[in-house]
Amino acid sequence: MDIFGPMSASSFPNLTVLDHPLIQHKLSILRDKHTSTRDFKQLVGEIATLMAYEVTKDLPTESIQIETPLETMSGRQVSGKKLTLVPILRAGLGMVEGIAQLVPSARVGHIGLYRDHETLEPVDYYFKIPGSEVARDFFILDPMLATGGSAVAAVGALRAAGARRIRFLCLVAAPEGVHRMLEAHPDVPIFTAALDRELDSHGYILPGLGDAGDRLFGTRTPE
Ligand code: PRP
Ligand code: URA
Repeated sequence: MDIFGPMSASSFPNLTVLDHPLIQHKLSILRDKHTSTRDFKQLVGEIATLMAYEVTKDLPTESIQIETPLETMSGRQVSGKKLTLVPILRAGLGMVEGIAQLVPSARVGHIGLYRDHETLEPVDYYFKIPGSEVARDFFILDPMLATGGSAVAAVGALRAAGARRIRFLCLVAAPEGVHRMLEAHPDVPIFTAALDRELDSHGYILPGLGDAGDRLFGTRTPE
């Protein structure tokens, strides 16, 4: 289903590909079908940590007075409201801890969505974000952006709850999904470790890494 032809990240104004060598190295191991469930889980977390470092680099900071053991000084701290991480269940859960290691004050909301195998459209079954949180920055987490149906629905649900500042973090994106997000939510930046070639006829990303949820939770052995 290569409806877009060869795509580069520069084709999409909403997309940033994080091509740090460590991210790319770990992603290659993640894609390998021989990688175990245990290693897969660890790598998803590690890549999420490395991505978070990049994705948070423009967070506003403010001055703060600190007393060192020797004197008082002016330092910096992240200003404004804290982050809320919103994994899309199930596979997004694998990215939470990796980011929380860098941002321990982050709250966590959850959006439950699965893709109908026939229509490939998302079916929602859960939505819970921390109360009075609409002024926060939201990072939606999901390793895979395929058709984009799940991402578009997740952003829509957060928006309906009042969220305004939303970023989408994934590990592997397909051009089809990035395009769909651009059409539906052009103001939501997408950060990915890779922009892959295309979707197959079942909506799987090629070359991709297979079914992220199954590989993360060991519910099916990858072929
Ligand atoms: C996967 C993945 C995304 C979605 C992406 O979840 O984790 O949520 O598919 O596909 P899309 O861009 O075409 O919507 P899945 O539906 O397999 O659910 P699971 O994580 O519960 O297995
Ligand atoms: N969901 C996955 O887990 N993998 C894909 O390739 C597409 C959707």
